[in-house]
Amino acid sequence: MQKSGKTLTDDQVSARVEAILAGMSLEEKIGQLNQIGGAEWSQGPKPEEVIRRGGAGSVLWLNDTRKFNALQKIAVEESPSKIPLLFALDVIHGYRTIFPVPLAMASSWDPDVAERAQAVAAKEARAAGLHWTFGPMLDIARDARWGRIVEGAGEDPYLGAAMARAQVRGFQGETLGETDRLVACAKHFAGYGAADGGRDYDPVYLSETQLRNVIFPPFQAAVKAGVGTFMSAYMDLNNVPASGNHWLLRDVLRGEWGFEGFVVSDAMAVANLVIQGHARDARDAAFRGLYAGVDMDMASHTYSNHLAGLVKDGTLDPAIIDASVRSILAIKVRMGLFENPYVDETLLEKVAALPEHRQEARRAAQRSMVLLRNEGGLLPLAKTLRRVAVIGPLADSMEATEGSWLVFGHKPAAVTVLQGIRARLPQAQVSYAPGPDIRRDLGNMFEDWMNEGKTPPQTPEESDAAFEHAVDVARGAEVVVMVLGEKANMAGEFASRASLDLPGRQEELLKAVVALGKPVVLVLLNGRPLSIPWAAENVPAILEAWEPGSEGGTAVADILFGDANPGGKLPATFPRKSSHSPLYYARTLTHLPESSPNYRSRYWDGLPTPVYPFGYGLSYTTFAFSNLKVSAAEVKLGASLEVSVDVTNTGKLAGDEVAQLYIHQRAGLDSRPMRELKGFRRITLQPGETQTVTFTLGPEELGYWSTNAGKWVQEAEAFDVWVGGDSTASLHAEFNVVR
Ligand code: GLC
Repeated sequence: MQKSGKTLTDDQVSARVEAILAGMSLEEKIGQLNQIGGAEWSQGPKPEEVIRRGGAGSVLWLNDTRKFNALQKIAVEESPSKIPLLFALDVIHGYRTIFPVPLAMASSWDPDVAERAQAVAAKEARAAGLHWTFGPMLDIARDARWGRIVEGAGEDPYLGAAMARAQVRGFQGETLGETDRLVACAKHFAGYGAADGGRDYDPVYLSETQLRNVIFPPFQAAVKAGVGTFMSAYMDLNNVPASGNHWLLRDVLRGEWGFEGFVVSDAMAVANLVIQGHARDARDAAFRGLYAGVDMDMASHTYSNHLAGLVKDGTLDPAIIDASVRSILAIKVRMGLFENPYVDETLLEKVAALPEHRQEARRAAQRSMVLLRNEGGLLPLAKTLRRVAVIGPLADSMEATEGSWLVFGHKPAAVTVLQGIRARLPQAQVSYAPGPDIRRDLGNMFEDWMNEGKTPPQTPEESDAAFEHAVDVARGAEVVVMVLGEKANMAGEFASRASLDLPGRQEELLKAVVALGKPVVLVLLNGRPLSIPWAAENVPAILEAWEPGSEGGTAVADILFGDANPGGKLPATFPRKSSHSPLYYARTLTHLPESSPNYRSRYWDGLPTPVYPFGYGLSYTTFAFSNLKVSAAEVKLGASLEVSVDVTNTGKLAGDEVAQLYIHQRAGLDSRPMRELKGFRRITLQPGETQTVTFTLGPEELGYWSTNAGKWVQEAEAFDVWVGGDSTASLHAEFNVVR
């Protein structure tokens, strides 16, 4: 594969950037800071005229290979300095081959899954003419009501950091410049996932301690992995909008972490500084956004409308503009866009059709699924079954199978669960009924914009008829597979919800089918943890399949019929009720902890214990953890120790287990969480096989940002350590950190 830009040293990149900058007018420099929309509904002047006068550095919301080349031709042949454009789009979990959503990939607890998925996504998207993806999304989410939990790696910073590194490597390759890779974008910096009440865009209030110990680690991991860009978030962070937050974008991101790429705002976020009651007017917003460290203004035209005036009247030092332009030009030089601005318009169809891409998607889906229950070993099902009913509104939905955040213009083409089961049981009668339909109570603004999803709701009579028909179809089967959960528009952006219950009449239908007394398997297709306490008690087999992508139905069939043994683990807690949110495992102890004999529930109307805890997942085989050892009872401050454990497959089938290591610092300057994930490893074991897994704990794992000290500390204190198959692991050891 021809390399371009990648072969340049940092000095050579800088020299080229300075040479280009020297020839640019102020208007052109400001143009590089302007990202314009390419969609029909985008606001502002026509892209062609803006690009021709050098008024844009990047185009987003366009997914048209031919048009990319047409616009690029204007930029590199007609604009004053002939600077190529960066074409950007949200390629979150696949371009043409759709992978499981990021929350699902995190459920694999296998960073290699995420890296390989994003490498395929990059290959296809680059072949389409894109250069830059607005991913990975790195927001820690501990409130499942927040719709965008689907795009991230769940509730834990250690797992989140591992997935961040892997995705950046997958998108970008080892270093920028490969012609089948993309520039990645760590988003949304920072704290977006902690919106009050899980309400999308709502204000966020986080202490510096929570920011540094919980929210920042995945973003720091992305910087260390060499991520090319960051995206500043929409919402107010402690009353200062993230896209106008100098502390966040200059002091922390660049000053402390040494980030050298560039920051793009979220869509319209610079202009929104006025709406959020922060900037007086658009001119003020332009100054505040750039001064705070937002290099590129996404789609609001605020920079292009006001920066020149701010420089001319002496308010803004033009050197600040030059610094932002340098960071953008450097990415374009590294990407080799000056040498190769165009894309081969025949490439995408060759790349997207590669069978290995679908195989990768199938493997990723298999490894992402989590077996939540399997009473009496109902699963795997026999392939000799003759009559199977597949019931539920998502059973044959390509949209629900491919999930939220598909790229612009993508037409879902997934193998649905129904199709997957029918293909696996060619001799059987596999009947199907959707049951009553499910829909959002309130519309999705994106669908309103694009005038989609306008089917009228079912009447009560139609709903009842669909309900009765579904029960009838179930009645005629040996085994019933219920496929329930959320539609693709029920999670993602602008898709928060107050309830975590199964939407519509799904649980009612599930109860009616279970009441028939037949074996029932529940397959969940959803973009967030759901509250399923009844199912967890009454449905013998439950498989969390998330939104599994193009090969989702095939992978579900692989697992249901034993061609793959599930090994995924939950990256987020499943609360008993949505009103228990935010609910997460890494909490500090109270004076009346769950472990104390006097413990009483924190609510008088029910236990706040999760239905399924963080890190939980079953297999078709069983595992045992033993022989937990620490390399020393004492370790000096700043030194490392090793923790080893034996994991044995005590069952009859080969399978994967995820060994998870949790620590607890018993006392210190600050109270520390009762458990914190500080190591994990997914391993495959043959029946009877034992492997020893070893983890290293050093200052990186044992230190933390202290409220009391106002800085990073590592303390000479006593520690507990547990290793097991989920966050309730009981195998325990201890050690002391000493001076
Ligand atoms: C959206 C999202 C962001 C996305 C951007 C461009 O509003 O918040 O994640 O990358 O706009 O589509």
